[in-house]
Amino acid sequence: MKGSISTVLLALLSSTPASAGPVQRRQETITQTVTASAPPAPTPWAWNAGGSQTWPIHESCNATERALLKKGLDDAAALAAQAKNHVLRFGNSSDMFQKYFGTAPSAEVVGWYDKIANGDRSRFKFRCDDVDGNCVLPGWGGHWRGENGTDETVICPLSYTTRHPLEGLCGYGYTVARGALSFYFGSDLIHRLLHMPSVGEGAAEHFADSASSWPSKKPAEAYFALDVYAFDVAMPNEGCTGKPAEKEEGDSHGHGSVAPTAKTSSAPTATSAAAAVSRLSVHRRKMLSY
Ligand SMILES: *[C@@H]1O[C@H](CO)[C@@H](O)[C@H](O)[C@H]1NC(C)=O
Ligand SMILES: *[C@@H]1O[C@H](CO)[C@@H](O)[C@H](O)[C@H]1NC(C)=O
Ligand SMILES: *[C@@H]1O[C@H](CO)[C@@H](O)[C@H](O)[C@H]1NC(C)=O
Repeated sequence: MKGSISTVLLALLSSTPASAGPVQRRQETITQTVTASAPPAPTPWAWNAGGSQTWPIHESCNATERALLKKGLDDAAALAAQAKNHVLRFGNSSDMFQKYFGTAPSAEVVGWYDKIANGDRSRFKFRCDDVDGNCVLPGWGGHWRGENGTDETVICPLSYTTRHPLEGLCGYGYTVARGALSFYFGSDLIHRLLHMPSVGEGAAEHFADSASSWPSKKPAEAYFALDVYAFDVAMPNEGCTGKPAEKEEGDSHGHGSVAPTAKTSSAPTATSAAAAVSRLSVHRRKMLSY
């Protein structure tokens, strides 16, 4: 650069009569050229560009829904973070770990909870418009959109009036063994998060199915998080595990205390939705129907 400027300057000087005026003008011109060609400041490379740590709440949610959904998702992250920390501390020696996950590798369990608590939030979305028309189904607090939007979950108005905050864990006579997963918004949303492909990677079903038999309620990941949070945080060294009812239903998506009518048998009121749901796998159907 410097070399070429001097060359240009030299050329100008040699081709110009020895009068001060023109040389000065031309020097000014040269100075401007140098300034304009200065290399731009290097742009720092952002390895995580496009990622997000903000909960992806769709614009269809009104202010109330947005606030309550954010609270519920924060609860889900808090539950997941404690579940992760519990497993990091105790590994598979924890009674609770063995109860819910049997002989599963503890690192896998840690990983799923870490994804929920700290994973990127830019690839999935929660929405509040009843875009698929399923919220009319009795007892439906929300649903994964399936083929209509694989990384989208609709949260229905029912959720905002029935789901409880994490601060209420062990309150209201709740026990993990008998209570519904959907009783607390946080545990409900852990389940919903894991069923979105970008979070659960299709492994949530296997994750739930690998759980040991007690409690027979699935999915294990949400119940384990509730049980651990209750014992470690909400009611320290006491918790509210409770005892399972003598006769448990085979399907256990937490219809119980919150949505007693949320059985598939109550669905015929919305035939097109039911038809779409019937195309999904058995597990997906179960997952949708609460
Ligand atoms: C727990 O992990 C150890 C290895 O640290 C393994 O030998 C043992 O079988 C595991 N126990 C269960 C119940 O999975
Ligand atoms: C916002 O959503 C909630 C829950 O779905 C609903 O009850 C409420 O009426 C809505 N508010 C407005 C202003 O539309
Ligand atoms: C997908 O959209 C169609 C058309 O709106 C609807 O009939 C169907 O119920 C939706 N599927 C789900 C799983 O909601």
